[in-house]
Amino acid sequence: MVDIIKASKDHVKRIARVCTEGYWSTYSGLLPAEYIERIVKEFYNQQRILKEVTHTDRNWGGYFVALEDEEVIGAGGGGMIGDTSGEIFVLYMDPKRRNEGIGTRLLAAITEQQKNWGATEQWVSVQKGNQKGIPFYEAKGFSFQYEKPGYANKEGEDFVSLRYHRYI
Ligand SMILES: CC(C)(COP(=O)(O)OP(=O)(O)OC[C@H]1O[C@@H](n2cnc3c(N)ncnc32)[C@H](O)[C@@H]1OP(=O)(O)O)[C@@H](O)C(=O)NCCC(=O)NCCS
Repeated sequence: MVDIIKASKDHVKRIARVCTEGYWSTYSGLLPAEYIERIVKEFYNQQRILKEVTHTDRNWGGYFVALEDEEVIGAGGGGMIGDTSGEIFVLYMDPKRRNEGIGTRLLAAITEQQKNWGATEQWVSVQKGNQKGIPFYEAKGFSFQYEKPGYANKEGEDFVSLRYHRYI
């Protein structure tokens, strides 16, 4: 049985692992290894995730995890970016557990949280070319709005993010 729950500090290590593995599996072949390494180090280290599960508010609602036998097989979270706008900031399944409907349940939990904060619309940024993410969001009713430079670009890098939107 897979449960979707709000993460606590007990889950930090496993969130770091699932996001790191998910990120590598999603972006190998799409982004250079040194870029992937940089992002994973910056965002998916245990110290940062510990803060992110213990300090939550409207701008960052904390991680939700998909738990099976104590194991974290998926993780995601988001927050409000305006009075009535939510955003999905992170969402990863264990690469071996995609397409079982669990990502849908994680997205629903984050969406419920944002609706309780007054969200009527939702945004997400997806790396251009991410065929493991874009079809999912399109299946969930998101539509492409515009392109923008990747949030983690350093000088000389020109990776592109796509902004997707849906009403909720
Ligand atoms: C995106 C992700 C979290 C979705 O979780 P998941 O558990 O695999 O997705 P689900 O099984 O719940 O949902 C799959 C839905 O997307 C659709 N889908 C998935 N891949 C698809 C594809 N290649 N083509 C068409 N539809 C697709 C399915 O039809 C299904 O739609 P439905 O609910 O209407 O039947 C997961 O696949 C993942 O970790 N991807 C890689 C990481 C990533 O890109 N994350 C997003 C970064 S912003």
